[in-house]
Amino acid sequence: MEKIILDCDPGHDDAIALVTAVLSPKIDLKAVTTSAGNQLPSRTLNNAMRILTLLGQKKIPVASGNRKPLMRELKTGVTMHGISGLDGADLPQPDFPIQTVPAIELIANVLRQESEPITIVVTGPCTNIALFLSIHPELKRSIKRLVVLGGGMGVGNWQPTTEFNMLVDPEAAKIVFDAGIPLVLLPLNVAYKAELREQDLKRIKALRTSISDAVSSLLNFYGLQFNHGNRHFDGVPIYDPCTIAWLIAPEIFSGKECNVEVETKGELTAGETIIDYYELTKRKKNAYVLFDIDREKFAELVFSTLKLFSQK
Ligand code: BDR
Ligand code: CA
Repeated sequence: MEKIILDCDPGHDDAIALVTAVLSPKIDLKAVTTSAGNQLPSRTLNNAMRILTLLGQKKIPVASGNRKPLMRELKTGVTMHGISGLDGADLPQPDFPIQTVPAIELIANVLRQESEPITIVVTGPCTNIALFLSIHPELKRSIKRLVVLGGGMGVGNWQPTTEFNMLVDPEAAKIVFDAGIPLVLLPLNVAYKAELREQDLKRIKALRTSISDAVSSLLNFYGLQFNHGNRHFDGVPIYDPCTIAWLIAPEIFSGKECNVEVETKGELTAGETIIDYYELTKRKKNAYVLFDIDREKFAELVFSTLKLFSQK
């Protein structure tokens, strides 16, 4: 079982990543920390707790992270995720208490309790992890690896070449990529391929559990945001669950070790990930970057994990 801490900003796709992490027998979710990103930090925290409440998980500790990015004002994902950050689903209010420590101290506590290094999955801006590394450098060796959703090679979703999580806090992302910790990156190049299509949505809906109902409602709302303007997808790309899917079934992905630098100064490119695919710079390779995914196997993995809920 892979022990993880999930640092997230739910967010529709974060919520599905969280559900998948809780339900998968291959993942042992030790803690959830929330970041400012898709919505204000009070809302992403509340959303994580509402999802855990729906799942009946009251024992997984949840803590809130920094109120804003390290050096910039917060840009939220309101246009994708709505005012609550999880618009479209009817979720219960949290029925368990938040941790009294901030996110970085919860991460520190969990790492200290474990006898072996464990994985931290990051599906929001990198703010909390950058702060954690700055304040607890001695615990760096307790992190087995970071699995990060963000960036893109020549592609963006909020700016022509910039992905949302990197755009929100480029300085934090730079600290994280430069930390020398094994890092697996799932950029837009792979996340855009992780679509759930009509037949997948129908199958999920047909499960008829409280979780599949919530996930269906979230996907309906989220899906609407993807097909307007000049963007067209055959289904709903669900970025963040790619991280959990990679931990469960790395064989359905392919990738390559690369040097990745995060641009922090560019007027038009702050937050861009410069992925040196052809090794043009000879800079040190600091990330295993995933570029491809078997979409059908991914959709099956999400479905079969959601199906486990009714069997619990
Ligand atoms: C990322 O941005 C957020 O809106 C999603 O939750 C995902 O983590 C994709 O760019
Ligand atoms: Ca996210």
